[in-house]
Amino acid sequence: MPRQRLYINIDHVATLRQARRGAEPDPFDAARLCERAGADGITAHLREDRRHIQDADVERIRAGITTVFNLEMACTDEMLAIAERLRPHQATLVPEKREEITTEGGLDVRHDQKRLAAGIARLNAAGIRSSLFIDPDEASVRAAHALGARAIELHTGTYANRANDPAPLRALERAAELGASLGLAVHAGHGLTVRNVGPVAAIPACEELNIGHSIVSRAVFVGLVEAVAEMRRAMDAARQSS
Ligand code: PXP
Repeated sequence: MPRQRLYINIDHVATLRQARRGAEPDPFDAARLCERAGADGITAHLREDRRHIQDADVERIRAGITTVFNLEMACTDEMLAIAERLRPHQATLVPEKREEITTEGGLDVRHDQKRLAAGIARLNAAGIRSSLFIDPDEASVRAAHALGARAIELHTGTYANRANDPAPLRALERAAELGASLGLAVHAGHGLTVRNVGPVAAIPACEELNIGHSIVSRAVFVGLVEAVAEMRRAMDAARQSS
């Protein structure tokens, strides 16, 4: 099975910094360390309310990392203009509500088509790989394909929250297979940890995982380099043994 990419979401390093509105810890330094520890890419979500990642962070990440930058963003004019200027390798469109703690569900790809299609068209025209964060169901995968996205990121939150229920994993497997059969690149993420990543890492069509909170949390105890290495080992072991 081909190696799966690990993109690390460094938003939570910025969350810690913003607790004091100071300079530390620096998400850019964290990004560089993640890369040295084996990350294949860096993900950061520039939220409209700038609660963690700031505009200056995305500028520095874009200019200074040696892997690739996946900019997570809402499909708004402001964010699309920033993406067009920065030209990250990839932009992942996510739904965004100001009151939420984290991205709670996938995009409403069936009912928000005009706005999403226009956003995807702008990203594609700028040479930015467009990805849509969607729930793992057939209608969402088909809609993402019809909208012209190059990739889908399957929301693994339900899988992560329902440890003893086989249904969410089956849904991810089916959605991944369908996405790949339609020619979409298939990614996944949200709520993944060293303990639950195995079955998702083992989905053959899934070429990239985006993981943040559990790696940054684990880094408090073992350091960022080891936290990244632990996740890498868990992903590789799952793919090798399936
Ligand atoms: N992918 C997307 C689209 C997200 O919004 C998030 C959370 O910001 C993640 C992946 C990473 O989720 P977690 O921090 O739970 O690993």
